[in-house]
Amino acid sequence: MREEQPCPRCGGTGWVLDASPGSAAARRCPCVGEKRRAALLERARIPRRYRACSLDNFELHHDSQRKALELSRLFVDRFPDQEAGLLFIGPCGVGKTHLAVGVMVELIRTRGAACLFYDFRDLIRDIQGAHAPESQLSESDVLAPVFQCDVLVLDELGARRTSTWVEETVFYVVNHRYNNKKLTIFTSNFLDTEEEGDLRNPYFKKEEDTLVDRIGVRLRSRIYEMCVLVALEGKDYRRVVRHDAHRERLAKKKRS
Ligand SMILES: Nc1ncnc2c1ncn2[C@@H]1O[C@H](COP(=O)(O)OP(=O)(O)O)[C@@H](O)[C@H]1O
Ligand SMILES: [Mg+2]
Ligand SMILES: [Zn+2]
Repeated sequence: MREEQPCPRCGGTGWVLDASPGSAAARRCPCVGEKRRAALLERARIPRRYRACSLDNFELHHDSQRKALELSRLFVDRFPDQEAGLLFIGPCGVGKTHLAVGVMVELIRTRGAACLFYDFRDLIRDIQGAHAPESQLSESDVLAPVFQCDVLVLDELGARRTSTWVEETVFYVVNHRYNNKKLTIFTSNFLDTEEEGDLRNPYFKKEEDTLVDRIGVRLRSRIYEMCVLVALEGKDYRRVVRHDAHRERLAKKKRS
């Protein structure tokens, strides 16, 4: 490993002397906070694709996005004096994950909060993996950071079909945070209705699964107690951007 250069401001002591003549006071060097924030960001496990996401670079193309951004900012402003987390719901590509990451980054930067990003499927996979006989990690190794972090982002809730075991496990995790008054932010692409579709009824026609179908009534109701619902609408950002870029290229071609 490369030896780190000591901070030029404090020489690595973490303290700088007050510059005013005759003063012997010392104060914390800014590098202490910088290092702490860098470590928090590293530990937050934000996926590479979302590293650049912030609340400041979230664009507003729809009224629901304006509202969602407001609620995200409010969440950061109130931290840690709020009871409820956030549940971002909406179609693909409207910026749910972007906002959830934006909140994390802002909390790390301004509050020094310990945040953790987990994809729903990865969490299940990691917990299941811990039960495999050859696993180096125990279930509690996997769950410790999930339980302990100040703010957990659980992305793509319901993105995987659950079994009773998975449902129980995820309920246990979410409930543990709830009981310990820990904040959780969820995102989900699933349509949300209160009723569970009766899959045994052959006359019940439904195009797609709802969130309840995916995570069960009990977990959904717990999440509703824990979170403010933030519904997002709009076009798939990835497609719109690609489309606009394409149009621009065509226009340029015409002009030349
Ligand atoms: N309103 C927005 N402003 C800026 N970038 C956005 C916005 N919505 C989505 N994006 C970008 O589009 C991509 C997909 O967004 P994402 O947050 O993954 O959507 P979702 O989680 O709702 O499916 C990401 O790269 C994200 O940064
Ligand atoms: Mg997403
Ligand atoms: Zn320093």
